[in-house]
Amino acid sequence: MNKKEYVFPEGFLWGGATAANQCEGAWNVDGKGMTVEDCLPYREVGVADFTKQFAFSTKDIEEALNAGPEANYPKRRGIDFYHHYKEDIKMFAEMGYKVFRMSIAWSRIFTNPDDLEPNEKGIAFYEDMFKELKKYNIEPLVTLSHYDPHIKLVTDYRGWYSREVIDMFTKFAKVCFERFGKYAKYWLTFNEVDAMLRHPLTSGALVEDRFTDMPFEQAIYQAMHNQLVASAKAVKMCHEIVPESQVGCMLTKLCFYPFTCKPEDNLANQKRMRDIYKYCDIQVFGEYPKYLLKEIERKGLDIYKPEEDLKILKEGTVDFVSFSYYMTSCMAMKTEGLDMAPGNTVNGVKNPYLPSSEWGWQTDPTGLRISLVELYDRYRKPLFIVENGLGAKDVVKDGKVHDPYRIEYLREHVKAMSDAINEDGVDLWGYTWWGCIDLVSESTRQMSKRYGFIYVDVDDYGNGSYERIKKDSFYYYKQVIESNGKDLD
Ligand code: BG6
Repeated sequence: MNKKEYVFPEGFLWGGATAANQCEGAWNVDGKGMTVEDCLPYREVGVADFTKQFAFSTKDIEEALNAGPEANYPKRRGIDFYHHYKEDIKMFAEMGYKVFRMSIAWSRIFTNPDDLEPNEKGIAFYEDMFKELKKYNIEPLVTLSHYDPHIKLVTDYRGWYSREVIDMFTKFAKVCFERFGKYAKYWLTFNEVDAMLRHPLTSGALVEDRFTDMPFEQAIYQAMHNQLVASAKAVKMCHEIVPESQVGCMLTKLCFYPFTCKPEDNLANQKRMRDIYKYCDIQVFGEYPKYLLKEIERKGLDIYKPEEDLKILKEGTVDFVSFSYYMTSCMAMKTEGLDMAPGNTVNGVKNPYLPSSEWGWQTDPTGLRISLVELYDRYRKPLFIVENGLGAKDVVKDGKVHDPYRIEYLREHVKAMSDAINEDGVDLWGYTWWGCIDLVSESTRQMSKRYGFIYVDVDDYGNGSYERIKKDSFYYYKQVIESNGKDLD
């Protein structure tokens, strides 16, 4: 029998992805303001328990603001990409990247979110990074907001619940489009826009103990609305300022299967999936879906959304849909007595047919194909996989890192993409591997949860030389890109 061929369209955008708060470090350098992420301490609470990682109170803020240099706040140091980006981009170019997904730290461009003038040193940093990418013909894919609101939004405002944050954010977006539009054509507004529901702190600068006058859910849904208005305004503005631009939304593509074929498990699953899509639906269709309006009504939430906002949502719909995809799990109407599995800031019923990563995430390449088809059928917009990858513990031996597990994960997901394109007719623009260089984990803040093709010598406590080492997967991905996805052996 002939071996199956995996092919990709000409010009397919292969690359890697990072986020400023997880890699840059240099948290208080050159006028950068302090962010929520800079205030999240390292916590030894077990790999699976993301809820404890995100539990955060006013007392934690005070501690962070007064912490000395010995305190362990991993995002403050990241992998020091701020000072290493030239060397790192050179290695991305060696792998053959066509695209590099990065985010701009709002707090570098505006030290305080309510400042009137931007910080020129912050602008110069990104301008230089864009020039460096251009040198190697790597197209930037820029996320405006990847989980790093200013801490000032918590202390002096009420996070994204405060309506004035919309204007502060659009002021930041405008500076980015005006100053960086000549370098970047692909833009995303908010990373994992649905994440406000799961971790309102890092997405929305919302700290529960600051909302004693209302149910916290009311604050979350209002903050979400405000963020969507800001997103739509940014999309419209980007189209006006950068005429060639393509602006996308970004969702966490969590994929659940019904645990059994019982109709009630199917119903539970359908509800869960709608929960994942509800905000992306607004960004694509420009209006609140009926099921979300019903949910808001049922919960008795009072969301302020004047007519002018609804008009803005209509005018600021996106050009493409991007998403993160790592794992799948199952849904059941009744979960008592069932084994549960952790995932990307969610817990689901464990799927007995899937293997798990060291962090318990159930890896599932077929789920990627299913997700691509589902998203394409739902939205009829080009798709972009902007995060996919395997977090694992790597070992350096004789200056080398052998990571066959990562190669295997990559290979199977590349095959799934090819099938979705060639057999299912999905329009997929590109693929950026998450954490293409090791960086600090979002949910656990560990360095030891490594995704990269490039190893960075720093541990969970900040010890190490920050030296970069190419892993075996570095050479494998290079080969995949060189052959445009054909050579997978
Ligand atoms: C995505 C986030 O949800 O998952 C990233 O956009 C994050 O910021 C990635 O790093 C992987 O999750 P984790 O918790 O393993 O870092």
